[in-house]
Amino acid sequence: AVVVSSRMRVRSQRRHARNVLQEFQEACSTPLPRLRQVVDAMAVEMHAGLVSEGGSRLKMLPTFVDRLPHGDEKGLYYAVDLGGTNFRVLRVQLGGKQGRVIKQEYEEVAIPPELMIGSSEELFDFIAKELSSFVAREGDGFRPVAGQSREIGFTFSFPVQQTALNSGTLLNWTKGFKVVDAIGQDVVAALQTCIRKRGHEMRIAALVNDTVGTLAGGRYWNEDVMIAVILGTGTNAAYVERAQAISKCGNVLPKSGQMVINMEWGNFWSSHLPRTQADEALDNETMNPGEQGFEKMISGMYLGDVVRRVLLKMAQEAALFGPNVPRKMLEAFSLGTPDMSKMHADESSDLKVVGNVLRDVYGIENTSLAVRKIVYEVCDTVAERGARLAAAGIVGILKKIGRDGTHSKWKVASEQNHVNGWEEVGSPVASECGKTVVAMDGGLYERYSKFRAYMQAAVVELLGDASKDVVVELSKDGSGIGAALLAASVSQNGRK
Ligand code: GLC
Repeated sequence: AVVVSSRMRVRSQRRHARNVLQEFQEACSTPLPRLRQVVDAMAVEMHAGLVSEGGSRLKMLPTFVDRLPHGDEKGLYYAVDLGGTNFRVLRVQLGGKQGRVIKQEYEEVAIPPELMIGSSEELFDFIAKELSSFVAREGDGFRPVAGQSREIGFTFSFPVQQTALNSGTLLNWTKGFKVVDAIGQDVVAALQTCIRKRGHEMRIAALVNDTVGTLAGGRYWNEDVMIAVILGTGTNAAYVERAQAISKCGNVLPKSGQMVINMEWGNFWSSHLPRTQADEALDNETMNPGEQGFEKMISGMYLGDVVRRVLLKMAQEAALFGPNVPRKMLEAFSLGTPDMSKMHADESSDLKVVGNVLRDVYGIENTSLAVRKIVYEVCDTVAERGARLAAAGIVGILKKIGRDGTHSKWKVASEQNHVNGWEEVGSPVASECGKTVVAMDGGLYERYSKFRAYMQAAVVELLGDASKDVVVELSKDGSGIGAALLAASVSQNGRK
């Protein structure tokens, strides 16, 4: 009788866990009509953010990038990249149309966690120090000729209000950084000071967001690139906008007639987003509650923790992992997105990998297949929701620039021909709306294959027929080279 009653208890607990799962799945669901509402909201908010400062939660930041690389950039350039989990320095020798990237070298280090919440000086001095030791190791033949200063593109992946290509003040931190005294500072000046203190002749020629770097890097190889999206620790997008559409810039329109906009879409919000209790609880425990709501449903820093919260609820309410709640499961961010991705990639019939991850991360031994299936389903639900929302974001941008197939080709082409200088830039849109390429980068997109597949499928679902003109492709590490290319475009060394 004891055995029977314990079996019954397990069964009823399992049923309870399944109910929690089902409720969560319903709260996360993104059927096509709902996704379309997100697409529309994105396009509307983009418009609002361009009209006036503070007009939308989407900051829609002008980047002062009004020309994108075309391939004839030449010379030796540097880039430093701060913005996610790692910090990078790179050096690239550009050879113009024929040679393109002749040679490149980079180094990468993990950002010490204490620097993410320390002082501005410590953070910028760390960058200057890494840059300085990188330069100290450079060999002959791959360094600037005597008398030439080193030109740097600075990829800084946080919201910055730019006043020129090479200056801008930090608006706020995201992704777990909180260096309070840097807010409101000109980040170029801050880094430049630290570099000078170390006695180096280097000039920060361009300040770029990672999305903007990816756009520039993508365009270098493919002239149809119009949009760049990062899906990594955080998420964001940048795209090429008609200068006249950026009304908040008044009449300081760039001659080229276009400008890249850093959307900061991580902060997008709409009542159509499928928000759950897990998202609310997560938000409350972050360093920036109430901000980056879209990012917290999509990006690598957060997905694993959404999963953890749902599993924790199942552990507490339905004893999913036995009578005791695994202690570590109470800890925020104890389940990383890489762990989640590993479980989700498990194709074995007994979900062995899911069991291994639960054991390695939480010390849970001997899970039943039924339990492992539930865990797998939670991962699937969270990834699918994030991926479909990212797809809706992309289609929202396509809609805003008239590339989602709902505008006639004629209209788009004629509108753009009215913009001064558009044709001078040699953009392919001027003549006809050919392919539109979306350059993607970031560890989440690159390494989480089911996320990527869900996202691509949703883009096709949303675009229907028009999806044949849209290419979503990985543009790996374009962001560093992109920053170097943008530095090249304003270089004092001149184009040779
Ligand atoms: C965060 C930052 C944004 C960056 C993105 C991807 O959303 O605010 O600037 O582009 O992460 O790294």
